[in-house]
Amino acid sequence: MITYCTATSGDIPDITTLLDEAHLPKAGLEAHVLNFILALDGEQVVGCAGLEVHQDCGLLRSVVVAPGYRTHGIGAKLTEGIIELAQQKNLTSLSLLTETAQNYFPRFGFVPVPRSELPAALEASEELRGACPDTATAMMLRLE
Ligand SMILES: CC(C)(COP(=O)(O)OP(=O)(O)OC[C@H]1O[C@@H](n2cnc3c(N)ncnc32)[C@H](O)[C@@H]1OP(=O)(O)O)[C@@H](O)C(=O)NCCC(=O)NCCS
Repeated sequence: MITYCTATSGDIPDITTLLDEAHLPKAGLEAHVLNFILALDGEQVVGCAGLEVHQDCGLLRSVVVAPGYRTHGIGAKLTEGIIELAQQKNLTSLSLLTETAQNYFPRFGFVPVPRSELPAALEASEELRGACPDTATAMMLRLE
């Protein structure tokens, strides 16, 4: 059975392993780890997703499920959990950058946008500033 919980700084090594395996950026992880949600199989971390908050804007990042656990709805639960968290924090939008999953996120309401149309507040994000390549697709979900 898969359970879900909020991450603590002690989970950084396990999150790092998941991100490395999926070739996803780690920049900014330590600063935002308390807004990460984990999927657990027993005590094993098998998935994660993170929220960066910049003013009233959110960045969904680091959505990854371990290869052996994919296509069982874990990625959806993690993504929906971050959308809920963003709503609880009264954020006006949730954005993301992806190179690999632009066809995955529309099911949650995200739409592709030109990168220049992402909220200016997100320029504070290390992931957005350079850790993620310029070729990534920008997507946004309005929460207002
Ligand atoms: C993207 C990812 C998180 C999805 O997690 P998951 O738990 O397998 O997804 P779910 O079980 O919620 O959804 C499965 C559905 O999504 C589809 N899907 C999975 N990954 C996809 C992708 N990269 N692009 C498009 N569709 C994808 C599956 O084909 C399946 O489709 P179906 O519902 O029509 O059968 C997972 O594949 C992953 O970790 N990928 C590597 C890391 C990555 O690319 N992260 C996104 C960048 S931020």
